[in-house]
Amino acid sequence: MGRDTAIPAFLDEIDNYLAGFPEPGVALVQAGIEKYLHGDLHAVAGEDNAVVSAWFQRALDVIAPSAPLLATSLARVLPELAWITYDGYDESEIGADFARNHAYASIIGDTSPLYAQDFDFGLFLIAPQVLYRDHCHAAPELYVPLTGPHGWRFEPNAPLSIKPAHEAIWNEPGQSHLTKVGPEPFLSLYCWTSDNDKPAAVVPATDWDELETLRL
Ligand SMILES: [Fe+2]
Repeated sequence: MGRDTAIPAFLDEIDNYLAGFPEPGVALVQAGIEKYLHGDLHAVAGEDNAVVSAWFQRALDVIAPSAPLLATSLARVLPELAWITYDGYDESEIGADFARNHAYASIIGDTSPLYAQDFDFGLFLIAPQVLYRDHCHAAPELYVPLTGPHGWRFEPNAPLSIKPAHEAIWNEPGQSHLTKVGPEPFLSLYCWTSDNDKPAAVVPATDWDELETLRL
């Protein structure tokens, strides 16, 4: 990949952005970004992704007023990202709505533009009002939503907490978590800081139908 890549500048911008966050895990993610930032860059083949075509620009429009540098940096890096609508969950467990209406792009990882072992950092996009059902995984995980508000919970069947944009969520290994996307698309930084080879599992709850029809 040539020197005109937007990825290092984007990661510098993210490193600056994360500097003000007190949540546990943020320093770990920053250390990983700094460690891998200067590695060899590899172009990754991206195909058009329907979720990105439908919602990425709207997410940028939401971000721009409060974080204009970040929005500009996201727009610049977009052409270099390969987005995946993940199909590793059993659709009957995760739900068809989530299965078809999310996409993620890894930037640092084992098949990403910047190579890393057992560390995965990138962007995660979900369409408005979609429910990402309760699930857990061995990997400790950071989310930093750049849009909001969205609903969250950390125990099956618990009530939702509504959290604004720019509030980090740190999930310890095995912590159950659910996201109910609000009226704007969910665009978030994500990072799995270790145990990336261990799969995620859906955690059963009895109120998914209600949460899927809920409009935040
Ligand atoms: Fe997760």
